[in-house]
Amino acid sequence: MTKKELFMANVRGEWTKRTPLWIMRQAGRYLPEYREYKKNMKFEQLCRSPKAVAEVTAQPIEILDLDAAIIFSDILLILEPLGINLKFDPGPVISPILERPEQAADFEEFDAAQKLAFVGDALVEARKRIGNDIPLLGFCGAPFTVFAYLCGTRGAKDFHRTVRFLTNYPEQGKQVLERLADLSIQYLKMQIAAGADAVQIFDTWAGESAEEEFALWSYPYLEKIVRELSQTGAVTSIYIRGSYHLIKRLKKLDATIISLDWRVPMTEAAGILSPKVLQGNLDPHLLLGPKDLVINKAAQILQDMSSYPGYIFNLGHGILPETPVDNVKALVATVHNFERKR
Ligand code: CP3
Repeated sequence: MTKKELFMANVRGEWTKRTPLWIMRQAGRYLPEYREYKKNMKFEQLCRSPKAVAEVTAQPIEILDLDAAIIFSDILLILEPLGINLKFDPGPVISPILERPEQAADFEEFDAAQKLAFVGDALVEARKRIGNDIPLLGFCGAPFTVFAYLCGTRGAKDFHRTVRFLTNYPEQGKQVLERLADLSIQYLKMQIAAGADAVQIFDTWAGESAEEEFALWSYPYLEKIVRELSQTGAVTSIYIRGSYHLIKRLKKLDATIISLDWRVPMTEAAGILSPKVLQGNLDPHLLLGPKDLVINKAAQILQDMSSYPGYIFNLGHGILPETPVDNVKALVATVHNFERKR
């Protein structure tokens, strides 16, 4: 079985003897080869160069033997064609930020497939680089999460900006969220046409809201994106950081894969979300600890999910830049050597 066959069997909800594994943010600063490659390049530049993207996308596959590649890019690149200036330092710096209701009218429609064609070119290039036996994933940010950055949210301490806009100017907020949803649909369809085997929608900030606000500000747009993509037969995955309280709503979504953060007990989620394909959810912070701990924690999740049909191992959020590569190697070996039992 190739890695792609293994991954796609799990996507179809089939039980496989071995568990496929990839890691959110698997190409990045914890890898010395990535730091070396990026030494003379800005992040934005790297993202716009299909050859360079193909190279860093392939790094975690070739160096760490991971089972799926995710195209190297960023969820915020969709903002530039909307007329927003975007820099990474290394966190995103956005200007102007959305603060006044009249700004909502400034965000013009654009052809995502055309304006973000470099991402499609990068997928084609990455496919050439990794070959046909490795699954290749595309992605975008969920409208709510991209909106949060657009409002100037950079971390938990300024998340209030997002809520301030949405509560004071609900109509204008809706207008922008709808535009982001429509652009995301075009963008993901383009990525699939360029060779992505599945696409993940990252809703990093959605878990900050209670269910009622999630139902208003995020869910309708996620629902629209996955509905439109499912109609074309595309494989979709939804990731929310902090989704325990939203799990019943996640069940209603037509997404193929639900990617869980580390605070959700996997077995409980499995009971609720079955027969959806599940992905997750080792706490990325624990990868800063001793190797034995990483191995034991991974083995425990593997054991818990051993008989679940359609399971993909991942972390519960992106890997931290401070993570020792040896711990990642130990993790990969643990997952690869674990034989699943029904
Ligand atoms: O998973 C992968 O390997 C693909 C690459 C990828 C990046 N960003 C590269 C990146 C993916 C899937 C993303 C998604 C992304 N970007 C999300 C959703 C996932 C999550 O982590 O919650 C979010 C919220 C962003 C926005 C963003 N971009 C932030 C908050 C930051 C700074 C955080 C940091 O790591 O410093 C970025 C910059 C960014 N995106 C980097 C990388 C590798 C660091 C820039 C660098 O390497 O110089």
